Amino acid sequence: MCGIVAYKGPKNCYPILIDGLHRLEYRGYDSAGIACLSDEKITITKRSGKVIQLEHGLKVNGKYENCNGSGIAHTRWATHGKPNQINAHPHKDDSGNIVLVHNGIIENYDPIKKFLKSKKIKFKSETDTEVLVQLIGYFFNKGKLNFEQSVRAALQRVDGAYGIVVLNKKEPDVMIAARKGSPLVLGIKDNEFFIGSDVSPIIKHTQQIIYLEDSQMAVMKSEEYKITSIDKDVSLPKKVEKIDFKIDDYDKGKFKYFMHKEIHEQIHTIRNTITGRAKKDRVYLNGLMEYWTQIKEADKIFITACGTSWHAGLIGKNLIERFAEVPVHVEYASEFRYNKTLVDNKSVVIAISQSGETADTLAAIKKANEYGAITVGVCNVAGSSVARETNCGIFTRCGHEVGVASTKAFTAQVSVLYLLALKLADSNDTINRSSMKAHLDFDDSINKIKSILKKENEIRKVALKYKNAKDFLYLGRGLNFPVALEGALKLKEISYIHAEGYPAAEMKHGPIALVDKDMPNLFIVPKDKTYDKIISNIEEIKSRKGKIIIVTDSRDKILKSLANDLILIPKTNHYMFCQLATIVLQLFAYYIAVGKKLNVDQPRNLAKSVTVE
Ligand code: G6P
Repeated sequence: MCGIVAYKGPKNCYPILIDGLHRLEYRGYDSAGIACLSDEKITITKRSGKVIQLEHGLKVNGKYENCNGSGIAHTRWATHGKPNQINAHPHKDDSGNIVLVHNGIIENYDPIKKFLKSKKIKFKSETDTEVLVQLIGYFFNKGKLNFEQSVRAALQRVDGAYGIVVLNKKEPDVMIAARKGSPLVLGIKDNEFFIGSDVSPIIKHTQQIIYLEDSQMAVMKSEEYKITSIDKDVSLPKKVEKIDFKIDDYDKGKFKYFMHKEIHEQIHTIRNTITGRAKKDRVYLNGLMEYWTQIKEADKIFITACGTSWHAGLIGKNLIERFAEVPVHVEYASEFRYNKTLVDNKSVVIAISQSGETADTLAAIKKANEYGAITVGVCNVAGSSVARETNCGIFTRCGHEVGVASTKAFTAQVSVLYLLALKLADSNDTINRSSMKAHLDFDDSINKIKSILKKENEIRKVALKYKNAKDFLYLGRGLNFPVALEGALKLKEISYIHAEGYPAAEMKHGPIALVDKDMPNLFIVPKDKTYDKIISNIEEIKSRKGKIIIVTDSRDKILKSLANDLILIPKTNHYMFCQLATIVLQLFAYYIAVGKKLNVDQPRNLAKSVTVE
């Protein structure tokens, strides 16, 4: 989704902002722009396409070297209006005094636009954002309000979600940032200020940050700053935190793509997630302890999330029901927020989100809080909205994930849910000590990730055979049904091949009609109680000439005879099988996309963090 970076300080802002825009590219975008305020003059440069084109434009025009003042920059993921240069941010008001970048959506843009047009204000773009900057300009140019008051007056009249940064050439020593629903982070370093829609463009410069809260404004004037409210001019506490993200998380190292790097990181990240939490025959989840009595006595557990996180939720359901014998209902957050709900004050609602900023997931949490449920966040970003809006939570601790297609975050979420299921089982007496110990002894299994990564070339060769397929079926049962869904999603996201995940037996009730000699069918086949049943499902496809790819831990000859291609994974327990199979499917999708010469880290139309409804 859209990204914001802004700078106020004594240095040339262009290199800082361009570097920030590159670090925001992972979020997905289709145009970019930059505005610099120096010597009471605003210079705006915008381009459709990539940041590199904007950077090139600045260098060619000789602007790159000379902006000592304030600057704001933006990557736009189009919502209102085409992804062209005119609609790209920053936008300025009709008088040319005010310039603004915006993440989010202004819902009541239409009546405001009509009102402003009736005042003879001329619009240039199709965006909702221009309405907001024109409204700020309208208040300021009337001459009764100063810049800060004008921003406040305008924000009080808009509905929707926003994170904004605004400059005004009539008050050049002021920069204002404000947020409602769309995250903004303020970085502070001596006499310099940095603003980001997340920490990625800031981390290189400072670790001292403030996560702006909803309805807060940050006003930076000369070398001073204050945190105030959008509702009224009050001084609010400055909650400065030290962030522990590492700059390495934002570099690709020896890898061509972040996704590839992040797939490889899983050998460490899964271990990081469980370290200190799984000890011999006990699970320790300190983030939940304050609410543990209510959690373990809950009548109902709901899991809500979007995308890949929702797939992790399906695995969580299977694990919690299996180990702790508590019914779990899993629902997309976008549905949960509007459906009739059975959530009450004896329910637990687990919200899973890598970014911690997904709009639908946040709305689902809000609803659960209103119904009196205990809300538990499973997320990766400390200080994120999910972390702050839930009663308690468990961080996935897998480091910053840059690739739009989520990989290490998924396996970390599954690890957290596995621990939670075992802890609940322990509290509910549905597991004994020796089983706990056995289930928590997955040191050796984690090492088996290495052997999957060593097979990478083999997986690549299989993947390349199928890069021209038009459709794919991914089939698995039990824990591996969500793995099939996730494998299919990865393929869709980065290779643009249509793929569907199904429970293997359910394939007979519709999808089998698609099967012909050109259609690859990827089966996930652990040697478990459904093994023989899956073999029958494979036979059914085989007899209709469908191509068969098998991911399995079984060396049985029958599988070899049925498969066009077989990827063998090491023997491990049930739970780790699904983690290892996931990593195989991540690599499989990755190599198909690379084979098709696609931009793996920034797939078309997708955004890393979907902060609008
Ligand atoms: C976007 C991303 C997906 C992600 C989903 C949920 O659609 O492209 O990769 O799974 O949002 O994101 P979250 O941050 O809430 O896990």
